[in-house]
Amino acid sequence: MGKRGTAVGGGRKGAETGVAKGRKASPGSAQITRARCGKKAPARARPRVRIDILTLFPGILDSAFSHSLLAKAREKGLIDIRVHDIREEAEGRHRVADDAPYGGGDGMVMKPEPVVRSIEKARGDDGHVVLLSPAGALLDQARVRRLAARPHLVIVCGRYGGVDERVSRLAVDEEISIGDYVLGGGEPAAIVVVDAVARLVPGVVGNEASTLADSFEDGLLEHPQYTRPAVYRGLRVPEALLSGNHAEVERWRRRQSLSRTRTRRPDLLAKAKLSDEDRRNLGEMAREDAAPEGGPGQGMVYKKPRPPRPGASGKR
Ligand code: ADE
Repeated sequence: MGKRGTAVGGGRKGAETGVAKGRKASPGSAQITRARCGKKAPARARPRVRIDILTLFPGILDSAFSHSLLAKAREKGLIDIRVHDIREEAEGRHRVADDAPYGGGDGMVMKPEPVVRSIEKARGDDGHVVLLSPAGALLDQARVRRLAARPHLVIVCGRYGGVDERVSRLAVDEEISIGDYVLGGGEPAAIVVVDAVARLVPGVVGNEASTLADSFEDGLLEHPQYTRPAVYRGLRVPEALLSGNHAEVERWRRRQSLSRTRTRRPDLLAKAKLSDEDRRNLGEMAREDAAPEGGPGQGMVYKKPRPPRPGASGKR
C-alpha cells in the first residue's frame, strides 16, 4: 500500500448519517435521552468493533442496520456502525463525485479526491480499509473471521463504472468481492460483509452461530434441518432425527453434510477436513452412484424432484 495521508480521527459529525437517524429507539438516541434526564448513563465498554461505511447512497444502508440482530448489537454497544456520505467530501456547488473514464467507455468512474478524503477522515489510527468491488478477492468465512478480528473496519462502497485506481493504491488495504456477479454498487455487499462480521463478534449471537460458522470453515455445507410437525404434506422427518439417539443423529448429519457438499459444491471437498470415516462414506456414495441398479444414489440428486402441489393440475 502507498503512503497514507495524515490520519484524522473517527467519523466527522457533519459527514455522518447516523444509520438510525430520525428513529426514536436508535442506540445513540437512547443514550442521549438518559444523559439529558440528569440520570447517570450506564458505563459502556468500548465497542468491540467499529465499522465506518463510505457510500454515495447512505439511504440504501440507513435501515439495513436498524433491525434485528444488528440493531440489538448496536444497542448493547458491541458494534458501532456509522454511515458516511462520500459526496460530503466532493468539491464545488454540485459536489460532483464521478467523472468520465480516461480512454473512453461506458459508465462513470468515482473520483479519487472525495473517496480518499472520506477514508482518511474515517480510518483514524486503526482502520482497516476494505474496498468492495467485483474485482476483489472472494469473500469466504475465513476472510470474514479475519475481518471480525480487527477493531475497526472502513468499508468503501464502489459505484458506477468503478473507482479511480489511485484510491486503491493510496488508501485501501484489501479489495473484496462478495461473489462472481456484478452489483449496481457496493452497498448490498457492505450489508453482507457487516452481517457476516457482526455474527462473529463475541456477544452478538449465541454459541450456535459461531459453531455454524466453524462447521462452514470445516469445509462442508450444513446438513438439512427439520422442525415440527414430524409429517408435513406427506413428507416425513428422517427417522434418525426422531430416534432420540444422539450418536445416530450426529452420524446422519455428517453424512448429509458430506453428500450435499459432494453434489452441490464438490470444489469444497478438496479443501475439507475429512476423517477416515468421512472418506469411507464418500467412497460408499460414489459406489452407490456408480451402481447400475436402483438409479443414482442420493448424492447424484441435486435438483430434487418436487412433490406435486396440492390442487395443481400440472398445466400452467
Ligand atoms: N460491487 C459490484 N459488484 C460487487 C461484488 N460482486 N462484490 C462486491 N462489490 C461489488
